Amino acid sequence: MHIIFETPRLLLRQFTETDAPLLLQLNSDPAVVKYVHELPLVTEEQAMNIIVNIILPQYKNELGRWAMHKKDNMEFIGWCGLKHLPEKDEIDLGYRLLKKEWGKGFASEAAQHTLEYGFNKLNLSLITGKAHKKNIASLKILEKLGMNFIREEIEDTCPIRVYTITNQKPLA
Ligand SMILES: CC(C)(COP(=O)(O)OP(=O)(O)OC[C@H]1O[C@@H](n2cnc3c(N)ncnc32)[C@H](O)[C@@H]1OP(=O)(O)O)[C@@H](O)C(=O)NCCC(=O)NCCS
Repeated sequence: MHIIFETPRLLLRQFTETDAPLLLQLNSDPAVVKYVHELPLVTEEQAMNIIVNIILPQYKNELGRWAMHKKDNMEFIGWCGLKHLPEKDEIDLGYRLLKKEWGKGFASEAAQHTLEYGFNKLNLSLITGKAHKKNIASLKILEKLGMNFIREEIEDTCPIRVYTITNQKPLA
């Protein structure tokens, strides 16, 4: 298992090709994909396509979306991570959880440690976060992380709010 980091309650690791059933479980829930401009997945083959064509290629330079497990029982609960968006050369913070795990602070905990990992381990200078205007839980997380609201824009026909945060490390 390629572990990226642990938080008090969570372990984050790279996805592998054997994770299609877990990704299907997550992305087949219409509530989970409601604000992310995706259709719910129906088959394990679709999940495998996402792993092979979207998730695994992101693992260059230690970036990517990482599978998230609760440390107490190693149950899979979703993903969090940093994705390089080549069209804007941005590093995007993202998170997605099984609905039964919402409201327990897991996304905030994972996102906070993901920012620390990006700044302290990967030495990134700027991280972006985006959420649909109506995705209150996600917007709240971006604001709690101390990210700064930059602008509203339309992405894939969706009205989104864009936030950024810079590496605050003192200059040497
Ligand atoms: C967005 C998502 C990851 C949040 O996960 P979560 O574990 O429930 O988030 P947290 O518990 O860490 O924090 C959410 C915060 O939003 C608040 N919140 C959630 N829903 C809310 C609502 N409808 N109105 C107001 N506040 C709300 C929570 O109270 C919490 O704030 P607090 O820490 O001050 O109590 C989860 O809802 C999800 O997976 N959604 C589907 C995928 C998605 O939309 N991902 C983000 C794409 S930008």
